Amino acid sequence: MKPINCIIEEVRSEAPLIRTFWLDRNLDPAPGQYVMVWIRGVDEIPMSFSGPDTITVQSVGEASAALFSLGRGSTVGLRGPLGNGFVLRGKRILLMGGGVGTAPLAFLGEQAKSAGMKVASLLGFRCKEDLIFRDRFEALGDTIITTDDGSLGIHGRVASGLKELNLFEYDQIYLCGPEMMMWDIISRTQEHAKKTQACINRYFKCAAGICGSCCLDPDGLRVCVEGPVVMADRLLESEFGRYRRGPTGGKGPCKG
Ligand SMILES: Cc1cc2nc3c(=O)[nH]c(=O)nc-3n(C[C@H](O)[C@H](O)[C@H](O)COP(=O)(O)OP(=O)(O)OC[C@H]3O[C@@H](n4cnc5c(N)ncnc54)[C@H](O)[C@@H]3O)c2cc1C
Ligand code: FES
Repeated sequence: MKPINCIIEEVRSEAPLIRTFWLDRNLDPAPGQYVMVWIRGVDEIPMSFSGPDTITVQSVGEASAALFSLGRGSTVGLRGPLGNGFVLRGKRILLMGGGVGTAPLAFLGEQAKSAGMKVASLLGFRCKEDLIFRDRFEALGDTIITTDDGSLGIHGRVASGLKELNLFEYDQIYLCGPEMMMWDIISRTQEHAKKTQACINRYFKCAAGICGSCCLDPDGLRVCVEGPVVMADRLLESEFGRYRRGPTGGKGPCKG
């Protein structure tokens, strides 16, 4: 798939290192799908959709910082939408996310509410300044917020909000965020793993299922094409939360 040219129509600051970009194209993505964004002269990196025509970018390194710095009228190349996306199931759902990982969940929650589902959210951030999309989640239904430093909501990691919820009440649970946050949740809620869809992050190069960069041990699931949404029971039996491969293919620690 060749990249298509796209013009950035609008940029909004969400947090000190997070911005949302409106694209001049609606690629008709499903929530959880991603797009490879080619920042010319720098790199091509994966980004989830935070809406039908938006991506929400956290500046963490060279390519994301270059994208983060683009303004209205700048152009990027796009390949997508790619990957499988979340599947909406049941009548009552729970969204659980951390940091910029809440972006695809806001998009998903809006589709779920339009379809008549009851939506609740548990969201975690490092501090209140890092909080994004509060209005979007609160418009969907009950929203619990945690912050690592206690500056807003429950003091602690996302998992510290679990005590406020009865997970048996939800038909389906949707998860996205830093790997160790997701691992913490999945390993504490194993009896719900068969109804938990997690949107995960691996090092993507081709995003076409060819290079093997994103494969998950032990069964070789290609996260770029068979994911990035993976059922949590499959993750419990995998490398997830234990190690991950970097740009050279070598194993390294999980982050977040
Ligand atoms: C399916 C998917 C959806 C994503 N959605 C979003 C999103 O909505 N918003 C957002 O801010 N970020 C998202 N990311 C993460 C984003 O792609 C990385 O932060 C970005 O690629 C980092 O590149 P860099 O050059 O800025 O940083 P680097 O300095 O290269 O690395 C910083 C960190 O990002 C990781 N990383 C670097 N390149 C890639 C790559 N090609 N694929 C995966 N991880 C990489 C590195 O392992 C390192 O931990 C997503 C990643 C995936 C796989
Ligand atoms: S990134 Fe190449 S196979 Fe997934």
